[in-house]
Amino acid sequence: MRRCYEEDFVMETAEQNKLLTQVGPGTPMGELMRRYWQPFGAAADIQEKWTLKVRLLGEDLILFRSRQGQLGLIQAQCPHRRASFEHGIPTQQGIRCPYHGWEFGLMGQCLNQPNEPDNASFREKVGARAYPVQELGGLLFAYMGPQPQPLLPRLDGFVHPGTIRMLGRALLPINWLQIMENSLDPVHTEWLHGHHYEFLKEQEGIKVAISAHHQKIDFKEFTYGMTKHRLLEGNSEDGDDWKVGHPIVFPNTLAVGNGDESQRYFSFQIRVPVDDEHTLHLWYNAYVPPPSAVVPAHLLKTVHQYTVPYKDAQGEFIVDNVDGQDMMAWISQGTIADRSAENLGSTDKGVAMYRRILKREMKKVEQGLDPIAIVRDALINERIDLPNERKKHHNSDGFASFMLRTHAKYSPIAADLVKIFEGENSPNLKLIATKELA
Ligand code: FES
Ligand SMILES: [Fe+2]
Repeated sequence: MRRCYEEDFVMETAEQNKLLTQVGPGTPMGELMRRYWQPFGAAADIQEKWTLKVRLLGEDLILFRSRQGQLGLIQAQCPHRRASFEHGIPTQQGIRCPYHGWEFGLMGQCLNQPNEPDNASFREKVGARAYPVQELGGLLFAYMGPQPQPLLPRLDGFVHPGTIRMLGRALLPINWLQIMENSLDPVHTEWLHGHHYEFLKEQEGIKVAISAHHQKIDFKEFTYGMTKHRLLEGNSEDGDDWKVGHPIVFPNTLAVGNGDESQRYFSFQIRVPVDDEHTLHLWYNAYVPPPSAVVPAHLLKTVHQYTVPYKDAQGEFIVDNVDGQDMMAWISQGTIADRSAENLGSTDKGVAMYRRILKREMKKVEQGLDPIAIVRDALINERIDLPNERKKHHNSDGFASFMLRTHAKYSPIAADLVKIFEGENSPNLKLIATKELA
């Protein structure tokens, strides 16, 4: 008999696990996910190309650029006889299928059927599925739900002026939910990023002590999702870690940044369901240069992209950095974690609360209501400032040290950022060059 620590931690059945994890069209979670704008890449991805394959929420799609420069996202296969639009021909208002030239507009409407008798009602019948695309902060977002579409939320880090932006990506062979649940699980940091790392170093003959004990944890619901709070041993309850915490923006974004004036940045981890068994993990960081910094223009121009690896050339998990450690743990849970075989403890109360809210929000969608964190007010959407800690424990060793302990070490602008935040003569530049901690 499965037990859990508290009565209201409902153990999930196999059926409920499906309900929480399946994201295809027509599934309750798929419908919830479709109420939110989902990021799927960077604007730069399509600048040099006319089309790009995209798989999102279990649907195969083609992102295309019209000759007028507008972006469309259309079902991959042509409604005529199913050739792919991947090799389509761009037109002024849309794209033509390469096979027989049928033309489709940005919203999937069939505009033209060469070699066919002109027949408007036939054209109307053969429309393709297509979704609106918008750009924000250099990322591309798609909205795959019913109209009227909500606003694309202008979260602080995506709209803050003058930031240096970077985007790390990993395509992970697992369901999205176990990744998000990690964000509602503060205690794992003490073990996975603390004691486990200490054990790895011990095997190299190096003694480190980095784990910080959680005295208590807490979770609250707010307008855009949940906030996560922790009190680490030796810290005060007046500290931001406990008082402010940081948000999980519903349904699939973690926002954890640093508001400290000397090292200000916004940091988002977005877990985009590709399908039930794959997730595109995006790390979007936007750094606010200190007022005195001279920032080379090229750093501000674009979103600097990189891949975050999780396995090495030998096929072993890379566990020398925080994000690698996380990916190892998530992947080790199985392609779709079997929640019917779990035993939740008291420290899983954030995970239990997240699942409860997801179920509640799926019901709302079924009833035709907007779920949590939907924005329709343009005034509110000028800029949405999220709650976040100003001083974070993880930054206490300095900027370069934190970069080297995370996905950020793979960034092509890691050294530029260290120069900006620690100065041209920072001794850490050498470490950044080798991507190794001392
Ligand atoms: S298959 Fe696309 S026009 Fe024929
Ligand atoms: Fe983690």
